[in-house]
Amino acid sequence: MQERFYVTTPIYYVNAEPHIGHAYTTILADFMSRFYAMLGYDSYFLTGTDEHGDKIYQAAKAHNTTPQKYADRISGIFRKTWTDMGIRYDDFIRTSEKRHIAVVQEILKRVYENGDIYFGSYGGFYCVGCERFLTEKEMVNGACPDHGITLNYIEEKNYFFKMSRYQDWLMAHIGKNPDFIRPERYRNEVMALLKSEVLEDLCISRPKSRLQWGITLPFDENYVTYVWFDALINYVSALGYPDGEKFIKYWPVVEHIIAKDIVKPHGIFWPTMLKAAGIQQYRHLNVHGYWNMQEAKMSKSLGNVVTPQALIDRYGNDQIRYFFLREMNFGNDAKFSEEVIVDRINYDLANDLGNLVNRVCTMTIRYFDGRIPAFHPEEPAGRNDLVDRFTASMEEYRAAVKNFQTSTGLEKLWEFIRHLNKYVDANKPWQLAKENGSALLSSVMRNLLEGVHGISVLLSPVLVQSSATVIRALKAQTTTRDIASLGTFNLLAEGEKISDPGILFPRLERRAGEADTRQNEKSEKTGGAPMTPDQPSSQKGEGLIDISEFGRIDIRVAKILTAARIEGSEKLLELTVDSGLDERTIVAGIAPWYAPEQIVGKNILLVANLKPATLFKRTSHGMLLAAKAAGSERPVLIMIDDSIPAGAKLG
Ligand code: MSP
Repeated sequence: MQERFYVTTPIYYVNAEPHIGHAYTTILADFMSRFYAMLGYDSYFLTGTDEHGDKIYQAAKAHNTTPQKYADRISGIFRKTWTDMGIRYDDFIRTSEKRHIAVVQEILKRVYENGDIYFGSYGGFYCVGCERFLTEKEMVNGACPDHGITLNYIEEKNYFFKMSRYQDWLMAHIGKNPDFIRPERYRNEVMALLKSEVLEDLCISRPKSRLQWGITLPFDENYVTYVWFDALINYVSALGYPDGEKFIKYWPVVEHIIAKDIVKPHGIFWPTMLKAAGIQQYRHLNVHGYWNMQEAKMSKSLGNVVTPQALIDRYGNDQIRYFFLREMNFGNDAKFSEEVIVDRINYDLANDLGNLVNRVCTMTIRYFDGRIPAFHPEEPAGRNDLVDRFTASMEEYRAAVKNFQTSTGLEKLWEFIRHLNKYVDANKPWQLAKENGSALLSSVMRNLLEGVHGISVLLSPVLVQSSATVIRALKAQTTTRDIASLGTFNLLAEGEKISDPGILFPRLERRAGEADTRQNEKSEKTGGAPMTPDQPSSQKGEGLIDISEFGRIDIRVAKILTAARIEGSEKLLELTVDSGLDERTIVAGIAPWYAPEQIVGKNILLVANLKPATLFKRTSHGMLLAAKAAGSERPVLIMIDDSIPAGAKLG
């Protein structure tokens, strides 16, 4: 039977237009859906809009219109934005649709009849931004920490869902399914919450005297349903719960994607609701971090928003998809910066990939009149090595993406792309071409064409348009969904005439004064002599290095945000640090000398551009600097005082 994959995004509130945070989650879901389709899965992708509740009601009022009309307009803008961004969802659910309302009422009825809903009275602090009551622990100086609004105390009679009844069950469920919520830090967050407090029952209604814009409770028409209880149900209502064909097909394999802002409703409300309604649990809750702009969390209420439409108009869809998927380490926050977009486009897309494709196609056209040459087994031109490297990159890409680690996955593919560029330089087809009809030239070019084809297929879930352009130019009949066959390097049609795909990714000029965020790599890639350790230094005298060699090492001040021991290792601590560029994981061999709580909050020095290394299944993105006195084993971390912010560069 064909395997299946079902991916969801949060359904977005229609109180404001889409912003890049929404665009990221939706692009990630679209990528995952296309990736699984590429692997041969029957893949289904759901997104939509969340249209009920106080927040929308108030936004509509502020615009002098009805909630329905307001929701129609903004929901339409979301759909148009996704279409313009080339997002291929299978369904778009709106919570004001009849099909959704019917399922919410059906589930409420079931839970009510099971005795898990009761009538009572409640007082609490309600945040309209979060659309939920906050506990006093969650508030900061009487206000919501995310929205900065001072919260009012509201007391009224309402219906409650007996969430408390499921607290022990949920802890046991998460204990038995350690990746139910991933990455680990968010599972720990939910577990800590469950362990530290007694869950309160969830208030799931609003009296119509206060709010009319919602789904009427099936057992009391004076009340509407609380917006989170309504919204979460979209994930099953869109599939036609309880007996729809799609529900039966896709629900067992659901993968939810959300950001860290809505972990509590998805990690606590939703599983207990599913349990009470007798519905199978979701498979995974996949939680990503936040895109931060100018140090502040980007949000509608703070007003520091870049529109997705402006981004795609300026840079293009494929480019933006690549930037998002390459630049965010899943689970951690990332800094949003247009300078980094420009650098990713210039270095990764234009230099590495675009150049490779152009060189290979131009040379095939020049030396073989565009006809795909034969591979000559007697002159293999290192084919086995290429195939091995390709297969290894592909497998690592596949494994990383299955865990939502898109950044690591793409880096693995880029290792192969960079290797193909080196292969061109090492084999110098332009010299081989001087010997007419050389079998070696033929094999070299065929190897390259197969490599470019393989990469293009693997990248098609990311670079949707440009991959299709290359595959078309190579006249490839890649109808196969068996990507393992890419590793045969024998998929192109010999003698078929390729066409010129043109410039895939035009280089972008930096605006005057813009910093080059990858200065170091640039000097290497624009043809300066490679500076590897075995290269003699330009200075006389042993052991001396050139200033530019030092300049290749990116040392920055970073702040330690979290630190934890790694189970099974006596030496290692797992840290998250704010490097000023991003939030990243570092694995450091300092456990015997430093307790985690001793170093959290400290500013240290980080080598930020080390190749990632994997230790105890964690990928370390850099190294902390420490000094060891002669004859001592003990590393002393170099700490910097608070007057220098994270991100400050040493040099
Ligand atoms: N309507 C609720 C979700 C209900 S799901 C049953 C909601 N909507 S929202 O419009 O506020 O969207 C929140 C989601 O948008 C986040 O979980 C994340 O997917 C995305 N993002 C919003 N801001 C973001 C960033 N700055 N960075 C990354 N993602 C962000 O909550």
